[in-house]
Amino acid sequence: MMIIYRPERARHERAIQRLVAESFPPVPGGWVAENLRRGLEPEPGLSLVATRGGEVVGTVRFWPMTIMGDGGGTWPALLLGPLAVAPAARRQGVGRELVARSLDRAARRGYARVVLIGAPAYYQPLGFVRAADHAIALPEGVEAERLMVRSLRPDALQGVRGTLLPGRCVRGGAGDVSPGRYSAAS
Ligand SMILES: CC(C)(COP(=O)(O)OP(=O)(O)OC[C@H]1O[C@@H](n2cnc3c(N)ncnc32)[C@H](O)[C@@H]1OP(=O)(O)O)[C@@H](O)C(=O)NCCC(=O)NCCS
Repeated sequence: MMIIYRPERARHERAIQRLVAESFPPVPGGWVAENLRRGLEPEPGLSLVATRGGEVVGTVRFWPMTIMGDGGGTWPALLLGPLAVAPAARRQGVGRELVARSLDRAARRGYARVVLIGAPAYYQPLGFVRAADHAIALPEGVEAERLMVRSLRPDALQGVRGTLLPGRCVRGGAGDVSPGRYSAAS
């Protein structure tokens, strides 16, 4: 049966939750990516589902993040994840296709860079490199081996380095930025 790729809708929510729950069994303290996403709203219009016979068999979602540089520079980034494919639909290119299609959409809409926490062996062929190669890291250096980044347009990673924080950056009055001023809503 044919796989159809389409933007996620509210009616897909329950099936997505089920798919994600079965793909990512709970770990002590929670998944780092899950903790990063907590309290955020997904970036509108970018998340996709794969359906087969009307059933959701794949999901990929995107969240707003900010890379905060030591010198005060800040760069928006999308966090990709979770990416999950139903066991019965794996090894057929669905995961790859969800990533490729969603990144195409993001690039067309002007997004510059995407980060994720995942297996380098899976994501390298999809154009991701280790974030550490660009001196981009999570606070306390967690997940340093699995944090990956991809540019969506030429030079979008040029000079970009810093700490990845959840939410969209909101600058304070004096131009200073602190994690407390990051919010999903602005
Ligand atoms: C990882 C996942 C999304 C892949 O989906 P998929 O539709 O099976 O992927 P594709 O068919 O596009 O690609 C499959 C290829 O990726 C490889 N692959 C799958 N998981 C991998 C991993 N963790 N590391 C390296 N390679 C991996 C497979 O070996 C396969 O390669 P092959 O076709 O050359 O044999 C799916 O297995 C899944 O939902 N897993 C559980 C959740 C998860 O780990 N998500 C990724 C982290 S965000």
